[in-house]
Amino acid sequence: MNEKNSLGLNLCFKDHNNPIKLFEEWFNKAKKTEINDPNAFAVGTVNKKGFPTVRMVLLKDFDKNGFVFYTNLKSDKSKAIKNSSKISMCFHWKSLQRQIRVIGIASKVSKKRS
Ligand SMILES: Cc1cc2nc3c(=O)[nH]c(=O)nc-3n(C[C@H](O)[C@H](O)[C@H](O)COP(=O)(O)O)c2cc1C
Repeated sequence: MNEKNSLGLNLCFKDHNNPIKLFEEWFNKAKKTEINDPNAFAVGTVNKKGFPTVRMVLLKDFDKNGFVFYTNLKSDKSKAIKNSSKISMCFHWKSLQRQIRVIGIASKVSKKRS
């Protein structure tokens, strides 16, 4: 059994073998059904003392390489990411009764892109 099926996700993945494709499908749906900010998600970081901290941000872009959000580089979340680049994300679309959780490594986008 692959990981997708062991999580009971085979039904929601349908024909997608790629989680980004599934995200794209659900996000496009949420843009039509969610009253506010379908691009809002919670991002979790770990601070220097090892405490997890979570706050809302807005998704600005995504592709096969990852998800992009903007923030002030002097913010607490930026400091936390400098301490540990391991982060988590959680989208919740109430109108769809769906959430998508993501874990990964955060990095700065290029100067040109920012
Ligand atoms: C719906 C919503 C969207 C937000 N979007 C962003 C965002 O895109 N970037 C950001 O830096 N803060 C955003 N904020 C504010 C953050 O939640 C947070 O309060 C702020 O960035 C300071 O967090 P920090 O002290 O952990 O760095 C948003 C807040 C809400 C409620």
